[in-house]
Amino acid sequence: MTKRIISGVQPTGNLHLGNYLGAIRRWVDIQKDYQCLFFLADLHAITIAQDPEKLRSSVRETAAAYIACGIDPKKSIIFPQSTIAEHCELAWILSCNTPMGWLNRMTQFKEKAGKDKEKAPLGLYSYPVLMAADILLYKTTHVPVGEDQKQHIELARDIAGAFNREYGVEFFPLPEPVIGAEAARIMSLRDGTKKMSKSDESEYSRINLTDDADAIALKFKKAKSDMEEGMSYAQNRPEAANLLSIYAALKGISKEKALEECQSLNFSAFKGQLTDVAVAHLSPITQKMRELLASPDYIDGILKEGVQKAAEIAEKTMGEVKDLVGFLKL
Ligand code: TYM
Repeated sequence: MTKRIISGVQPTGNLHLGNYLGAIRRWVDIQKDYQCLFFLADLHAITIAQDPEKLRSSVRETAAAYIACGIDPKKSIIFPQSTIAEHCELAWILSCNTPMGWLNRMTQFKEKAGKDKEKAPLGLYSYPVLMAADILLYKTTHVPVGEDQKQHIELARDIAGAFNREYGVEFFPLPEPVIGAEAARIMSLRDGTKKMSKSDESEYSRINLTDDADAIALKFKKAKSDMEEGMSYAQNRPEAANLLSIYAALKGISKEKALEECQSLNFSAFKGQLTDVAVAHLSPITQKMRELLASPDYIDGILKEGVQKAAEIAEKTMGEVKDLVGFLKL
């Protein structure tokens, strides 16, 4: 079976180092060998209230980030999810075959819905079915994501299996999560036990892809540290372990090698070294993003091409799905 890859990021602003190291940077290598689709998950973004103007600019900003990080629009298909209506259409059909019990197990819903689940929107609850539709619509086989999305992809596998069984076919391939070994879960700079996240209130919890050198230096300086000597991955030192992992991932070296290089440094000297590595790595990306964002027409042109290519695949799958389900085609 040929591999087909899909992945996406919610365009909700504050694209950060976790999104980059856990997902986007890994896509850059994968696109060399496989057909890839990378989309802007704007339908997912509105599961939480969004300002329409900000959403529009975030879609362009996230597309610019993909390209600035090295996604090649000539090789890979880049498009906003909402432009392909089949995502929603397939999500509905799949939802008719997805037991609620499966959705009740989703940890991300529990975290995002908070204490008052009765008030949480239906879209937040059914979100993983839309995600399964994103993946299955293109008959995708592999999904490169950070660890926090693993459960959703396992659910997409179950949903694909349920559909195939229901209609007695081997129609959807069962997609596999592809989680990186080195940076699967980048943690907050303020609390090494919490995931780095776009929605954290503290700007100091994350390095954004739009941060300049001064902001990066300040954020690492203020990052939580401990009083132990040297650097290590010890379990009781989550902040040291997180920063070392970031260092390794940015330098493209193993965690062991990063430890070898830095174990004798004290926390503040290490932070200085990490800042240098981060600035050297991220500043060309930030610069390229700025240039791209100055030409929104260029970005829109790339997205339009992506939409055309994605639509071809999506329409074909959807036609086949409708035949299987028994809808009239008039
Ligand atoms: P989102 O927007 O939350 O995150 C985008 C990607 O970044 C990864 N990620 C992280 N990786 C490591 N450490 C972190 N702290 C960190 N935070 C985020 C995520 O795992 C993800 O790979 N539901 C998805 C978007 C989506 C999608 C899909 C992805 C919608 N449909 C279909 C793949 C296939 C999401 O909200 O990602």
